[in-house]
Amino acid sequence: MSDQVIIFDTTLRDGEQALPASLNVREKLQIALMLERLGVDVIEAGFPVSSPGDFESVKLIAQEIKNARVCGLSRALEKDIDACGQALSVADAFRIHTFIATSDIHVGTKLRKSQDEVVEMAVKAIKHARKYTDDVEFSCEDAGRTHIDYLCRMVESAINAGATTVNIPDTVGYTIPSEFGGIIQNLYNRVPNIDKAVISVHCHNDLGLAVANSLAAVEHGARQIECTVNGIGERAGNCSLEEIAMTLQTRYAKLGLDTNIKSQEIHKASKLVSQLCNMPVQMNKAIVGANAFSHSSGIHQDGVLKGENTYEIMTPESVGINKNVLNLTSRSGRHVIKHRLGELGYGTDEYDLDNIYTSFLKLADKKGQVFDYDLEALLFFDQQKHEQAYYKLQYLHATSGQNIIPSATVTVMVGEEEVTEASTGNGPVDAAFNAIIKAIKGHDLDIVDFKLDSKGEGAGALAQVSVIVEYNGRRFNGIGLATDIVEAGVKSLIFVLNNTYLADQIDQQKQVKIAGV
Ligand code: KIV
Ligand code: ZN
Repeated sequence: MSDQVIIFDTTLRDGEQALPASLNVREKLQIALMLERLGVDVIEAGFPVSSPGDFESVKLIAQEIKNARVCGLSRALEKDIDACGQALSVADAFRIHTFIATSDIHVGTKLRKSQDEVVEMAVKAIKHARKYTDDVEFSCEDAGRTHIDYLCRMVESAINAGATTVNIPDTVGYTIPSEFGGIIQNLYNRVPNIDKAVISVHCHNDLGLAVANSLAAVEHGARQIECTVNGIGERAGNCSLEEIAMTLQTRYAKLGLDTNIKSQEIHKASKLVSQLCNMPVQMNKAIVGANAFSHSSGIHQDGVLKGENTYEIMTPESVGINKNVLNLTSRSGRHVIKHRLGELGYGTDEYDLDNIYTSFLKLADKKGQVFDYDLEALLFFDQQKHEQAYYKLQYLHATSGQNIIPSATVTVMVGEEEVTEASTGNGPVDAAFNAIIKAIKGHDLDIVDFKLDSKGEGAGALAQVSVIVEYNGRRFNGIGLATDIVEAGVKSLIFVLNNTYLADQIDQQKQVKIAGV
């Protein structure tokens, strides 16, 4: 059996489906490109039949990604599989992932079918998917609670029907490591054709055991792990990519299992996913939490100063964290910024130095010293700039105080037209939002969440506003960053408006295509 574990990333599917607001096509592509740099083997890019936006993003990702296999999810239904085939066939090679539930509770209550009927549906779906590609994955949803005899029968039938990967999900995160490892062991002992497919696992984290269960599974022969960056996903999330990858790397001498993950990219990937998905990472999260490599107690600090390995089992550098030793101010030249970004792991192809340097100088004038997290934030927002944004903020002036009515004036580019409007509100942000909505001549959106955070440390931190809006029955994210709270808020609204505009464009293109069929 191979010593290589395939890393199947489902951040853009299982992770994305659990977000409070969906990502747009561009954001999904940005994450997919990051996953490719991170070295994942398979990228599950979405569920094409679920929405026009998902279909378009799976297609775009399949078009752009060259060094990972792109995969789409489908129920065991022909129309889902056809949507996957159509979205993915722009790539030379791709994977279709089809699934059906196998536990008694799902088969009886959810599907209301007999076990024989479910096997038949699975076999039919796999054979249909094989018409599009020879890389077909089949999942037995809720395998963790499936009777082992039926699971063995289903796995054998799936492999006979042409599945090249068979996935064993612990869909509800119910099993414990010895039990889950035992399920994999049983499959290896009892399924006669098991050597014809890769056995994969997909563990949810409801009891906090997703990584431990995935590890137990590979110790018993599974060779694909399905996971997400920062462990995002349904409910308590999925197996965390960075935790399982660093476990295999750090404990290589004991486990002897390899992956293709380039661990130095982990920190960047975690930040990008957290920012775009608007999902903060807990401070003490293993590998990527802000405290993961900081030592607090005097005894620990003393130990680390004498020898890092006293309290560190891996180095911060191994996951791409580099400590800043340069003092970045408005006197720092372009080459210094380029050099520091390089040290932080960003290649020159990932940003426009002119843009970043201009933003850096503006920020340095306002803040004095610019820190790594400021530089990374500038980079992030530079990458988010909608190249051909429909709405652009040109001017903002807001006033507020005690005993005065807050008011704001804004100038916004609406396509090619420059529009200036003023309004009042119950605070300066509200006044500015009202002025923008007036400028764009009304927009049928509801603000369902507005969060203000500080990005960085102390008084010099930047304001970061994240908003979630509901528009046409869907939720969209927006983020804005500035030294000024009102400006950050307004930028987040402009960001979200561009997201809704993009979604409308995709829906319209889809309508035109359907009408033209
Ligand atoms: O958790 C699960 O069972 C899934 C399947 C679709 C693989 O996400
Ligand atoms: Zn799942």
